[in-house]
Amino acid sequence: MPTAHPPTSNAPNATSSDYALANEDRLGFWADQAGRLDWSEPFTEVLDWSTPPFARWFVGGRLNAAYNCVDRHVEAGQGDRVALHFVGEPAGDTRDITYAQLQAEVSRAANALTALGIEAGDRVAIYMPMIPEAVVAMLACARLGAPHTVVFGGFSADALAGRIKDCQAKLVITADGGYRRGDPSPLKPAVDTAVTSCPTVSHVLVVRRTGEPVEWTPGRDVWWHDVVAAASPHHSPEMFDSEHPLFVMYTSGTTGSPKGVLHTTGGYLVQSAYSFWAVFDHRPDDVYWCTADIGWITGHTYLVYGPLANGATQVLYEGTPDTPHKGRWWEIAAELGVTTFYTAPTAIRTCMKWGDEFPAAHDLSRVRILGSVGESINPQAYEWYREHIGGGRAPVVDTWWQTETGAHMITPLPGVRSGKPGSAMTPLPGISIDIVDDDGNSVPPGQGGYLVATEPWPAMIRTIWGDDERFVETYWSRWPGYYFAGDGARRDNDGDIWLLGRVDDVMNVSGHRLSTTEIESALVSHPSVAEAAVVGASDEVTGTAVVAFVILRDSASPSDDIVEALRTHVGQQIGPIAKPRRISIVSELPKTRSGKIMRRLLRDLAEHRTTGDASTLADSDVMAQIAADLTPSDSPT
Ligand code: WT7
Repeated sequence: MPTAHPPTSNAPNATSSDYALANEDRLGFWADQAGRLDWSEPFTEVLDWSTPPFARWFVGGRLNAAYNCVDRHVEAGQGDRVALHFVGEPAGDTRDITYAQLQAEVSRAANALTALGIEAGDRVAIYMPMIPEAVVAMLACARLGAPHTVVFGGFSADALAGRIKDCQAKLVITADGGYRRGDPSPLKPAVDTAVTSCPTVSHVLVVRRTGEPVEWTPGRDVWWHDVVAAASPHHSPEMFDSEHPLFVMYTSGTTGSPKGVLHTTGGYLVQSAYSFWAVFDHRPDDVYWCTADIGWITGHTYLVYGPLANGATQVLYEGTPDTPHKGRWWEIAAELGVTTFYTAPTAIRTCMKWGDEFPAAHDLSRVRILGSVGESINPQAYEWYREHIGGGRAPVVDTWWQTETGAHMITPLPGVRSGKPGSAMTPLPGISIDIVDDDGNSVPPGQGGYLVATEPWPAMIRTIWGDDERFVETYWSRWPGYYFAGDGARRDNDGDIWLLGRVDDVMNVSGHRLSTTEIESALVSHPSVAEAAVVGASDEVTGTAVVAFVILRDSASPSDDIVEALRTHVGQQIGPIAKPRRISIVSELPKTRSGKIMRRLLRDLAEHRTTGDASTLADSDVMAQIAADLTPSDSPT
C-alpha cells in the first residue's frame, strides 16, 4: 500500500470536532450547516423521513437558490468581488464578471424568461458551451423556481430530444455554438433537429457566441442579446419551499434510457455549500477552478451552486487542455493565481502522458488544494498530481460521490485527515456509509462489499423524474432502508474506504474478487503504459477472464515482449490471478464526454460481439479505430 500523506496543519476550516459533533447529533449538525444559507422562512423540522425513501429536508423552510448564490453577497458588500474569471478558447477572449454584474445579468435573464412565459415549476433545457451565459441561465431558472435540465453540449440531437421530452421542457436555452480546438463548433443545429419532435417547446433562446450563421424559426427563436439585454437588471426573487425542484440531471443507468435525477433546493444547497467550504477548505482569497463541464453534476455542484453559495472567485474555461498547446491549463492557472484545482483522474493521466515539462513551465506556487473526482485515482496519478501540480505541498482530496448523491460523500478533509493515494478515505461529517455483503451485513476490514448509505443525507436524489417506482427499485430495493450506490468498496484496517469500481466492473475470477480499477492501476504503474482499461470477459473455466486494452506511452512501441512484460508486471503488483488473459495494444479508448471509459463497449469487443449503443461516446470513430488496432493475435484462444 502506498504511504499516507499526513494532513497539512494550516488551520483548516473544518476540524476534527466536526466529525464528533455530527456523530453525536447528525441532524443537529446539518441544521447548523443550514445556517450557511439565508432563509426567508426558517424550517421547522430538519428531516422528515416518515415515508422512506422519499425524504424532505429542512421542512417548511423557504429560500431562493439564486439569491443565496448571488444577491446576498452583493448585499454583504462583496459586489466588486470577481465571481467568474471567464477564459474563452480564442486567444485573448477573457471576461471578469463580478458578483454585482452577475446579479444584474441573472435578474435580466429572469425577467426575459418571465416575458417568454416561464413560471415556477416549468422545465427549461439548457444546451450550451462553457460560457458565462450558461451559468446565468441556470441561476435565472433557479431564481424563477423553474427546474433546469442541462444537457452536455457534446450530446447528440437525439439525446437532447429524449431529455426534453422526458421532462417536457417549455424552453431551450442554447448558443449558436462554442469554440472547440480552435474552431467554432455549432450547437443550434442540434437544437433545431431536436425540437421538431418536442411539441412542449415554445421558444428557443439563443446566445450569439461564434457569430456563425444559424437557421432561424421566427416566433420560436429569440436572440439572448435582444431580450436579455433589454430587460430590467432588477428582479425580486420569489422564495420557494425547501423541497421545490431545483434541477433534473440525466444520467445513464444499467438500462438504455437515462434517468432524470431530481434534486431539490434546500438540502442540495446546504450540502453543496458545506462540502465546498470544508473539502476545498475555501478561503476568501482563493481562486478556485473546476474543469468539469456544466453539463455534468460536478459542474452543477462544484462550479455553480457550491462555489457561488460561498461567494467564491473561480475560473470558467471554455476550451480543452491542449488548445492551443499542452500547457494551456497551467498557463491559465499561473496567470489567475489558482489556489484550488478540481479535475478527473483521466485528465491527470493525460497530462502525465504529455510530460512534466508543461506544468513545470508555469508558476503554480499558489496551488494549495487539489481535488479528484469521477473514478478512483490510481496512486501513480495521485503522486504525479501532488508533485507536479501541487508542488509536493498540496493535499489531494479524492472525492467519491455521484449524480444521485448530489454532493461529496466520501473524501478526506484537507488539514484534518491524511490522504492515502488511491483511497477516498472516510465519509464526510453527517454522512453515514457502510460496506455490506449480499445479506446487508457489514463486512470486516479487507473484505470487498457493496457501498451503501445507511441514513438519508441533505443533497440526496429525491426521485427519478416522473418515475417514483424506478427510483425505489433502482436504489432502495436491495436492502430496505439502505441506498445502494452501485459501487463496490472495502475498508482497510484503519477504516479508510477504497472504491473498487461499479459492481458490474468487479470481476469474479475463479472465485476471487478482482477490481478492474486495481488492475488498471497496476498497468498504468508500468513505465510504458499511458492508459489502460480492463474488462471481465466471460470465460467457461474461470467465470471471468481479465482482458486489458492498453495505450502505450510515446516512448514505447507495441511488441509481444511488451505484452508479456505487462502481464508479468500485473502479476507482480497484485498476484498471478490478476494477470490479464489478453492485452490488446490500442491507440484510443472509448470514453464518454465526461472522460469515463465505456467498458461495456470494450467488453463487447473482448467477447467478440458487435458493439452495443455507442451514442454517448465523445468520439464516435474510436470503436472503429480500436477494431483496426486489434491484430489477429488478439483473437480468442
Ligand atoms: C460514479 C458516479 C461524482 C461526479 C462525477 C461522476 C464513480 C466518482 C469517484 C471516486 C471512485 C468514483 C463511482 C460512482 N466515482 N467519484 N472519487 N472514486 N469512484 O458522477 O457520473 O454520477 O458517476 O463515478 O463509480 O458511482 P457520476
